[in-house]
Amino acid sequence: MNIKENISLKNYNTFGIDAMARSFVEINGLAQLQRVLELKAYPHKFILSGGSNILLTQDVDALVMHINLKGITVLEENENEVQVKVMAGENWHQLVLWSLEQGYGGLENLSLIPGNVGTAPMQNIGAYGVELKDVFVNCTAMDIESLELEAFDLERCAFGYRDSFFKNEGKGKYIITSVVLKLTKKDHQLNTGYGAIEDELQAQGVVYPTIHDVSKAVIAIRRRKLPDPTEIGNSGSFFKNPVVSKKTFEKFRKNHPEAPFYEVGENLYKIPAGWLIEQCGFKGKRFGDAGVHENQALVLVNHGNATGKEIMELAEKIQSEVSKRFKITISPEVNIIK
Ligand code: EPU
Repeated sequence: MNIKENISLKNYNTFGIDAMARSFVEINGLAQLQRVLELKAYPHKFILSGGSNILLTQDVDALVMHINLKGITVLEENENEVQVKVMAGENWHQLVLWSLEQGYGGLENLSLIPGNVGTAPMQNIGAYGVELKDVFVNCTAMDIESLELEAFDLERCAFGYRDSFFKNEGKGKYIITSVVLKLTKKDHQLNTGYGAIEDELQAQGVVYPTIHDVSKAVIAIRRRKLPDPTEIGNSGSFFKNPVVSKKTFEKFRKNHPEAPFYEVGENLYKIPAGWLIEQCGFKGKRFGDAGVHENQALVLVNHGNATGKEIMELAEKIQSEVSKRFKITISPEVNIIK
């Protein structure tokens, strides 16, 4: 089973935080997953996937189970569509590249998102007008108590903006082992309405875009705005964009008519947290090795040797400034492990 003791997690979290795991094991199969969950000698277990959405603020005094389940299988297909089952430990962007190679559409807007397939449903990953839920059929997850595999369809997953069953009632109760996605083989429904994609395609002189063009455009935009975790530690957007009521929004808008916003439902408005943070003067700022990215204020970065605590303190400082200045609460998208 190869359980190792005292392993640094620096290379297992995209923030590059040098926290230690008391014990560590790679999970390569479902039977092994069950066996490890049953181990009484290790009462505390910590599930680690791609490590792209966590902030470790201290050492992990538990058995870290690194989910490394691999495999991509076509379950069924017809002329128009294909259903693909992907194991949780597959890298998300590698899956997107694979789907593009096959000529399958649906994932192009979700290019270059860090992390693994198994955590995609946790927060219903999304970018440039598309969310996981748009291509999702179901996922399978192991109940940590009963060790049984259960199926979760769209309804049971209760996806919302960066939200799902697994972040609420299901929190800490399940390990997602695989995900089934529905992709198109022809007549792809391109989603190029997001302003930045339109501009990028135009700049590249593309008039009739393909799924490959859209992916390339998304990759170019992300590379410009978002830091590459292999170069500088980060977890993508650190905060969620706050969604506020019409009453709060109108008060805010009166004082800040220049602020960008999106109407996201009846009497609900989303305000970009990146804008709020930039207005508070944090963009590009650095406090020791903890900092705010220079091209996107929503992203906190580790310039080298920041501790998780230092990043968390910076996040708290930002939340408190935004709240003081705008009377709007922003909350983390990243899972802070305390
Ligand atoms: N903005 C600023 N200053 C900044 C950053 C943004 O003024 O420093 C303004 C922009 O000018 C724009 C608006 O805020 O008017 C929105 O910015 P952007 O399009 O960059 O998107 P975002 O709302 O900041 C969200 C997602 C990203 C996703 C993009 C594109 C969340 C929390 N983040 O960011 O997701 O890539 O939209 O769809 O919803 C992630 O979750 O890790 C992530 C990167």
